[in-house]
Amino acid sequence: MELKQQAIGVLRQNDRGGYTIPTASGLYPAQWNWDSCLVALSRAQFDEARAVTEIETLFGGQWPDGMVPHILFHGDDSSYFPNASVWQAGPTWRSSGITQPLVAATVVRQLFEYASDPAIRARLTALVPKLLAWHRWCYAARDPHGTGLVSIIHPWESGMDNSPLWDDALNAVELGPPVAHLRKDTGFAAADHRPTAPEYDRYINLVIRFRDNGYRADRLYGIAPFRVADIGFNAILQRANQDLRSLLAATGDIAGAAEVAIMKERTGTAIARCWHEEDGFFYGVDTRTGKIIRKPGIAGFLPLFADAEVAARHPRLVERLESWLARVAYGVPSFEPDRPEFEPQRYWRGPVWLIVNWMLINGLRRNGCGDLAARIRRDSLALVERMGFAEYFNPLTGEPLGGSGFSWTAAMYLHFLAGRE
Ligand code: DGY
Repeated sequence: MELKQQAIGVLRQNDRGGYTIPTASGLYPAQWNWDSCLVALSRAQFDEARAVTEIETLFGGQWPDGMVPHILFHGDDSSYFPNASVWQAGPTWRSSGITQPLVAATVVRQLFEYASDPAIRARLTALVPKLLAWHRWCYAARDPHGTGLVSIIHPWESGMDNSPLWDDALNAVELGPPVAHLRKDTGFAAADHRPTAPEYDRYINLVIRFRDNGYRADRLYGIAPFRVADIGFNAILQRANQDLRSLLAATGDIAGAAEVAIMKERTGTAIARCWHEEDGFFYGVDTRTGKIIRKPGIAGFLPLFADAEVAARHPRLVERLESWLARVAYGVPSFEPDRPEFEPQRYWRGPVWLIVNWMLINGLRRNGCGDLAARIRRDSLALVERMGFAEYFNPLTGEPLGGSGFSWTAAMYLHFLAGRE
């Protein structure tokens, strides 16, 4: 069967009716926030109505305060830990109690611009106030002092769970009772492709802390033992601010558009200040200690996704990306190769993830770096053509890693193939 048809087959196979699970392998038996959005982006190519449903289902789990959880548990979640019965979160106790990168507005804007059917546009328009509520929640709960940079309070919120960027902040989290023996992920994926046991103990410890505090948005920022302003999370939010502003203007909410313009202004200034002149790189900050997180993770390139002027202002950033690509067979590694923390097989400590490649391709094009974007697109297509729809890939060998038959990899393959990136 043609690979394009296989990719569509993966999305159909993982479709649970109204939402798509990341993989049928058992590793993630629920709806993940950014996975779902990125699946919708591509699903729109062959089923616009179903793509919109994906986002509607996600926003069906939005909390009254505007937060959209990182996981919604709809069905049997017994193969996952921590599942709904551990989280005990949300109005219906069927979600996690933390969030994930705010890509939804960017996806909804693309769907809106492609849609010609007025019924689809009407459904997308109905999502816009919900997107605004999520962005408002994010600033109120995670930037209470109005710095322009929002903080995440759990590595899972970054989506880049075990990135070396979190090592110091996570190691400072007290180790509670060991729980790593309860994890189920290593039953479905090789242990050396996944986070370590001490990392898991701390991940779960944080969950218990938040649960004990009733997941109260007004409390968690202050009590969180892990709190960082991730450059990646903020860059994705900043891009989403632009897209949300445009959606609000297009759907006639002028006051909302003005409100988001202020968010965008503030975050734009704050991201610009994250540039480290000596290192020629963007870094986030540990907002508990005030220390810069001076490590070269792929998140440091994401300001390219947020702002079309970054390459002109900082040509060294683009050169740095080129130097990463020169050291691997397939780009883009999630951490700088040759660094001691770089592990080409372990989740977010080195492997290539196609969804981040999409952000970089899209951002590089807007920044006038078409050749580099084309190289990353070529690598992404080659990985799938040679290795299949793996969750992530070894940048040195292309080896497929993590879960198989993975929704967002299939989605990005279709997206790149169609030239919609
Ligand atoms: C996991 O369970 O590995 C997920 O990435 C958490 O969101």
